[in-house]
Amino acid sequence: MEIDIFTLFPEWFAWFETQRHVRNAVEQGHRLGYVNYRDHTPLRGGQVDDAPFGGGAGMVLRVDVADAALRARYATDAAGVRAQRRVIALTPGGRILDDELVDELAAEPALTLLCGRYEGFDERILEHLASDRVSIGRYVLAGGELAAMVVCDAVLRKLPGALGDARSAVEESFSQALDGAPEYPHYTRPADFRGWVVPPVLLSGHHEEIRRWRLEQSRLRG
Ligand code: ADE
Repeated sequence: MEIDIFTLFPEWFAWFETQRHVRNAVEQGHRLGYVNYRDHTPLRGGQVDDAPFGGGAGMVLRVDVADAALRARYATDAAGVRAQRRVIALTPGGRILDDELVDELAAEPALTLLCGRYEGFDERILEHLASDRVSIGRYVLAGGELAAMVVCDAVLRKLPGALGDARSAVEESFSQALDGAPEYPHYTRPADFRGWVVPPVLLSGHHEEIRRWRLEQSRLRG
């Protein structure tokens, strides 16, 4: 998978790339790329945003700037990029990211993530350049960068080879294997700590009983 992130703050992602599962994904041949809107703006002084028509607080990412950045990256008409790959605008009002959407995105060969800043995007970016609008929750962040990291984190860990143990991503919270329910509880050593004991079934060695107990616990939490 190839993920391009359009942002004003590409340096924020240096920390993100130090995470083990992200490094694993990159070592497996998956690729994260960054495009700084400011490097492609047709405006003077590196301007990328502007005051909203009709007045109001904040600044809005300009459509001509997003257009120029997409054109520079893909060497094609910016409005045609979404026919080749999903172009996802991160915006609080978008489709809420859940396990189903993460699976859908993880199956794509390539993704483009557009981060907005300040008051967000000129609506024409969403209408004419993006194919999707995705939200990580109904609250407003100062920009789309943290949301883009959340999307990348959730998508990359679904890719084969990203996690140390591939089973981790199959039977986890909200997955199909658990009928969309939250994950069952986990315990590790010590088996008894201050009298807080681990459910005996987990120490029994009966795999079938353990499997049934976990499924039941998962359903109880659903
Ligand atoms: N940009 C600002 N807030 C956001 C949110 N909640 N989800 C996705 N992108 C955003």
